[in-house]
Amino acid sequence: MELIKLFISILIFGSLKVEEVKCATTATVEELERLIEAATIEANSYEFPTNARIYQPENNEIEDIGSFDFVIIGGGVAGSVIASRLSEIRKWSILVLEAGTVVNSEFNAMLGYTAFLALSDLSWGFRSVPQTTACLGFVNQSCRAFRARGMGGTSLINGAVYERGMPSTFDEWADITNDPTWSYDNVLPLFKKSEDFHLRNPNTPVEWEYHGRGGYLNVEQKIPEDFMTTLFLQGHRELGTDIIDYNGRSQLGASIFQLYTKNGRRQSVYDAFLTPVLRRQNLNIMTESYVTKININKLTKRAKGVTFTRHGRTFRVNAAKEVILTAGVFQTPQILMLSGIGPKEHLLDMGINVIEDLEVGSKLKDDPICQALYISTNMTRPVETLEGRLQQFLNGEGSLTQAYSTSGVAFQKSQFEEQNYADMEFLAATVQRSAFDVRYAGWTNETYDAAWGNNTNAIAINIHNVNPRSSGTVRLNSSDPFDYPLIDFNMMSDPEGHDMAVLYEGINRVFDLLRTPSFQKINPEYRGSPLPGCEDQQFMSREYWYCFLRQTCTASFHVRGTCPMGADPSEGAIVDSRLRVFGVRKLRVADSSVLPTSMSGHPVGTIIMIAEKAAETIKSDYLPYIS
Ligand SMILES: Cc1cc2nc3c(=O)[nH]c(=O)nc-3n(C[C@H](O)[C@H](O)[C@H](O)COP(=O)(O)OP(=O)(O)OC[C@H]3O[C@@H](n4cnc5c(N)ncnc54)[C@H](O)[C@@H]3O)c2cc1C
Ligand SMILES: *[C@@H]1O[C@H](CO)[C@@H](O)[C@H](O)[C@H]1NC(C)=O
Ligand SMILES: *[C@@H]1O[C@H](CO)[C@@H](O)[C@H](O)[C@H]1NC(C)=O
Ligand SMILES: *[C@@H]1O[C@H](CO)[C@@H](O)[C@H](O)[C@H]1NC(C)=O
Ligand SMILES: *[C@@H]1O[C@H](CO)[C@@H](O)[C@H](O)[C@H]1NC(C)=O
Ligand SMILES: *[C@@H]1O[C@H](CO)[C@@H](O)[C@H](O)[C@H]1NC(C)=O
Repeated sequence: MELIKLFISILIFGSLKVEEVKCATTATVEELERLIEAATIEANSYEFPTNARIYQPENNEIEDIGSFDFVIIGGGVAGSVIASRLSEIRKWSILVLEAGTVVNSEFNAMLGYTAFLALSDLSWGFRSVPQTTACLGFVNQSCRAFRARGMGGTSLINGAVYERGMPSTFDEWADITNDPTWSYDNVLPLFKKSEDFHLRNPNTPVEWEYHGRGGYLNVEQKIPEDFMTTLFLQGHRELGTDIIDYNGRSQLGASIFQLYTKNGRRQSVYDAFLTPVLRRQNLNIMTESYVTKININKLTKRAKGVTFTRHGRTFRVNAAKEVILTAGVFQTPQILMLSGIGPKEHLLDMGINVIEDLEVGSKLKDDPICQALYISTNMTRPVETLEGRLQQFLNGEGSLTQAYSTSGVAFQKSQFEEQNYADMEFLAATVQRSAFDVRYAGWTNETYDAAWGNNTNAIAINIHNVNPRSSGTVRLNSSDPFDYPLIDFNMMSDPEGHDMAVLYEGINRVFDLLRTPSFQKINPEYRGSPLPGCEDQQFMSREYWYCFLRQTCTASFHVRGTCPMGADPSEGAIVDSRLRVFGVRKLRVADSSVLPTSMSGHPVGTIIMIAEKAAETIKSDYLPYIS
């Protein structure tokens, strides 16, 4: 036992040391400029891996490293929250296994460079299999499927938008799971518990009763408000749209993004929830540790522990109480399937012994986003030097403190939305034509060039369908845990054509917005050229835009639902309302995989709530004095 402690403490020592360095650092403009230069070079040349063989062990030997009460697989958004909350119980030993490392770079704190982070070794580098209904104007008809590795998970490289969805979403979850504890009234306290809300932009309407103070996650707005945000909100006012707090009583309306940054700096979910508690003796974090399997007793169907690789060696660890799977929306189903939990036929095809026949990976959802509607303007852009922007960043303000070039957002309902959910999200970005964009999104040059056409000095109004009907899959390529999973988004494929119709309505609404007096002041004009593959359609006709959408819509990375919760596994549910895998004991899933329906937009806020709820549920299961 002593040896094990030593082993673990050597492994975590590295990350604690890095943490201290961070506290001592005060970056200067010159240092940031050097970091930007290095990251630019990396992002423009980085070749993504196509598998996880870097984690492959050097021999077949397996070393046992003993036992922990809870073993958490993946230290991402959900894993960080759960580790923080479970380690509050000092008598419980917690082990987090994370494939990536602890990331501590001033560069990562600048949201304005978010896209560069996705093109670095923080990224797993997943892509979809070739698509037939979306992403057609992308290399190999493949959508990118960005996910990050490292403590904090995909919050290391994401846009830090904080959003929860519509209150009725959670009432619907209570119905689906047959468990009233998921109703909005019951989950609102959990949303508030995580949050430390700060009103920085006084133009933002706030419904204070929906917000928390003093939680781990700082939530704020970018300041100062930029021209594009103000214009976007004015245009919406002229269309009769209410300006609202989208995290209040209704999500429908236009608003300013709430970001989970702290004084304008990226705060990963690891920074927020785990760095304050790293000194807890019962919290153990092993980075660069790649889980290949959950070990399950075939007779009792009890999860016993986990096998993982680290620096060429293979280890086995026991979970005295439970294994908690939070490896994200692609790898959580992958690990379940590798462990014998998944669709029976598929597992047999892969040569994997079936432990539990469940429809794992069969209901993947993502929101199609069209970012290629470039519009020429005569807008005068403020002249800002990099030095000036960095100076502002060091003061917690300015354009580098947000991931998109505007903070304005609108959540709306199309004519096809039968309930009261937002199914469309819009935001306007000031954009420039760039080879980097082509690399980041994975465009073909031909499609990208045609979408720009003769547009200059452009803005792009992005259209998301945030409540789509189509769904796709995650499957194994083989029984080899070092193969990447096969990701098929299958967006905009529903037989009724609902998702396409919503996106087309979105295009029309963009043109409505451009006709408002506010937007007319920047003289908006569409000067794109006909896209390759759409030449046969009459330019800018309905048929043309349908073709345009299939060529240019891609994944928005709000992926969910690969292990949905529900009441009945025969209807596709993988976990019950307490997030326990059906038919298997001592195994929970508690990340983006479990969302049973869309929550209309950016999922991190909701995933954090789910993780808070998972931790409370586990505490109530094992500590009878907590109700
Ligand atoms: C570019 C981009 C922008 C986004 N912007 C926003 C936004 O602004 N707002 C928002 O709400 N959402 C945004 N999202 C989505 C959001 O980041 C994700 O939905 C969220 O991070 C998912 O949380 P998770 O806990 O399910 O998984 P993750 O945060 O991805 O964590 C999973 C963790 O598990 C680890 N892991 C995986 N497999 C293994 C293994 N075999 N062994 C050990 N560890 C493993 C991974 O390395 C990772 O750290 C964005 C996503 C992307 C890609
Ligand atoms: C596209 O497909 C070709 C042929 O299968 C392959 O060689 C190439 O690596 C693929 N490119 C990407 C970016 O996946
Ligand atoms: C697009 O063009 C640029 C510049 O010519 C080139 O470097 C890049 O490889 C091209 N990308 C693709 C996907 O063909
Ligand atoms: C699937 O496995 C085959 C055979 O090993 C390999 O060639 C292929 O690249 C893999 N596909 C993916 C998406 O990893
Ligand atoms: C842009 O065009 C609009 C509409 O024609 C006009 O009113 C406005 O003055 C122009 N602005 C600039 C900066 O040229
Ligand atoms: C773009 O410019 C070219 C050359 O000036 C012109 O022939 C073409 O019609 C323009 N296309 C659009 C869509 O405005």
